[in-house]
Amino acid sequence: MDDKLIRTGIRMSCRSGWVYKVSCWISIDYQLVEVTAERDWHEYHSIRRKVLWQRRGLSNYDENHADEYKTANHPLLLRLNGRAIGTVRLDDFGNGTGAVRLVAIESEFQGQGHDRVLSDFVEGYARRLGLLTLYVNAAPEAVGYYEKLGWMPEIWDRAELVGIASECLQMT
Ligand SMILES: CC(C)(COP(=O)(O)OP(=O)(O)OC[C@H]1O[C@@H](n2cnc3c(N)ncnc32)[C@H](O)[C@@H]1OP(=O)(O)O)[C@@H](O)C(=O)NCCC(=O)NCCS
Repeated sequence: MDDKLIRTGIRMSCRSGWVYKVSCWISIDYQLVEVTAERDWHEYHSIRRKVLWQRRGLSNYDENHADEYKTANHPLLLRLNGRAIGTVRLDDFGNGTGAVRLVAIESEFQGQGHDRVLSDFVEGYARRLGLLTLYVNAAPEAVGYYEKLGWMPEIWDRAELVGIASECLQMT
């Protein structure tokens, strides 16, 4: 769990044109949850279905896909002050490498730095699993985001570039 305090500013204006700036402190509590409880599965699938399928015009999201339930695959949920706002799955390939799958942040929370937090959590989680190298199939619209986080293009398994991943760029 990571508890942060951030300063937030609220601007208020009055008729005479004076502007007052009021600042206060708010608490931000992030939590990375291993998805096992029924409620967590429900929120995990709901975010993925919306952000990664419906927003892309796809309708064939499968909650029961076998990959979700393999013991080497780790479905994870990011909670912000208790609310589920992001998901990722970390797959352990068993040789010190693994893949970050289907990262998604709820639309209204995107662009606010939450995925940087999720990414840090995932790196720590991967290190604890003994994963030294991570791979990703980056969707074209997310390549810029991965580059910002330091990922570099590298073909790691051409066979994965099919179906929903056919347009992806492989990175490490
Ligand atoms: C991609 C996604 C996970 C990023 O999450 P986010 O919470 O919006 O990202 P953050 O706000 O933490 O941004 C991290 C950095 O990446 C940058 N960034 C975010 N999205 C970007 C994009 N599409 N292109 C370029 N840069 C991007 C941000 O500006 C930020 O950089 P900065 O800190 O230097 O300003 C989120 O936008 C999302 O869920 N998108 C839809 C699903 C998706 O494409 N998932 C990837 C599947 S491969």
